[in-house]
Amino acid sequence: MIFGATGDLAKRKLFPSLYRLFEKGNLSEHFAVIGVARRPLTNDEFQDNVKKSVSTAIDKEDRIEEFSSHFYYHSHDVTDSDSYASLNKLAEQLDSHYQLDGNRIFYLAMAPEFFGTIALHLKEDGLTNVNGFKRLVIEKPFGHNLESAKELNTQLRTAFAEDEIYRIDHYLGKEMVQNIEVIRFANAIFEPLWNNRYIANIQVTSSEVLGVEERGRYYEKSGALRDMVQNHMLQMVALLAMEPPIRLNTDEIRSEKVKVLRALRPISGEEVKDYFVRGQYDSGSITSESAPAYREEQMVEPDSNTETYVAGKLLIDNFRWAGVPIYIRTGKRMAAKSTKIVIQFKDIPMNLYYQTEQTLNPNLLVIHIQPEEGITLHLNAKKAGQSMEATPVKLNFANKGIDGINTPEAYEKLLYDCMRGDATNFTHWDEVALSWSFTDKISEVWESTVEKNFPNYASGTMGPKAADELLEKDGYFWWPVT
Ligand code: BG6
Repeated sequence: MIFGATGDLAKRKLFPSLYRLFEKGNLSEHFAVIGVARRPLTNDEFQDNVKKSVSTAIDKEDRIEEFSSHFYYHSHDVTDSDSYASLNKLAEQLDSHYQLDGNRIFYLAMAPEFFGTIALHLKEDGLTNVNGFKRLVIEKPFGHNLESAKELNTQLRTAFAEDEIYRIDHYLGKEMVQNIEVIRFANAIFEPLWNNRYIANIQVTSSEVLGVEERGRYYEKSGALRDMVQNHMLQMVALLAMEPPIRLNTDEIRSEKVKVLRALRPISGEEVKDYFVRGQYDSGSITSESAPAYREEQMVEPDSNTETYVAGKLLIDNFRWAGVPIYIRTGKRMAAKSTKIVIQFKDIPMNLYYQTEQTLNPNLLVIHIQPEEGITLHLNAKKAGQSMEATPVKLNFANKGIDGINTPEAYEKLLYDCMRGDATNFTHWDEVALSWSFTDKISEVWESTVEKNFPNYASGTMGPKAADELLEKDGYFWWPVT
């Protein structure tokens, strides 16, 4: 059951992802999807929507008729028990028609204010009373801060056990985010160097070209810290910094990630300005088109104090990482859409190549998450010719080039994981709670002080100057990501 089936997420991501799973044979004949939303629609109209969404996203849709025949629609009132009763009746009919063995997945792809109410109704009105499995998939935001997240969690837990709750962080479904673990733990050459003796710093960038679009109402209350840092950025940091798990199963991986989040040095009060930079985009031009300032966007206050950019320096206080800064930055209306991780290794102990008046570049391992997917290792090698000069060389691996296939969309992987009951790439409550307690201390300071310099970066740039200074203080700079 997809709650919010007429919404943007269902249309753009969920229907096409389900279709891809269907086409690959990963969805058997034994499935039915009930689209649940407020507006009245017939099954035919709903199936037409599904077809349109699939054909917009996918070129080849040979089995679209067969696929869409598994879709049904239920017009729903989220606060009305009668509405849940008729939904349950439809689910029971489809269960016997498609032989679903009583297995149910409830996907909440809608406004978060209803998450708690829906979960309670699902239980009270008997929808979770099934012989098979019952799983709840829930989209972000998971609360607005630690306190509201706890409240929401308590509501969900009255109807679902922790291992039945699949909290989506779509970055965990990205191919190259999943690759972090393999690069680290399947190679003999990186793990011995993966610590404060050999790594100078780590830089995680997730920049976007798009502005806030039509999400002003949500974004005004969220800002980049809640929207990107609390979840996606900290999840990537946890994967980069965790200890090797004793086994590659859900519990062991999650428990290592949780330890990283527990070791994250809290930044609060006066320290916030030394470790974090906030930005808000001004007007500017992106690929020669002019873009408005954030404060001119729809549903945004003309004197908004909301940040559309965050850069920060994180420290992980454990034996492996003591003293290694992990810099993160993310923002809207930046120069490029790019998510990249740069691991900068320490300089060699002595440079033998000074005679030629060159400084050696440090070794870098770059993990390209999107739009391109791959790995680059930056080395130094001999420049061809008579002299013994060193020159930078790059070893490149591009995912698409080698495998020759398009990597599956994050949502496709996550939906499939959920159907198979694998929660590894979903966030556990402990991770959510620790991430909120870290970002809450920063939000408290930012919300209680008006940033007089806003807007402080032009659209189409890589963010405010202060973000460069954050690294310059430590003798580093942001490696270009474009
Ligand atoms: C979402 C945020 O979680 O991630 C959006 O709410 C952001 O504001 C998006 O645009 C970025 O995701 P991606 O996959 O495009 O990097």
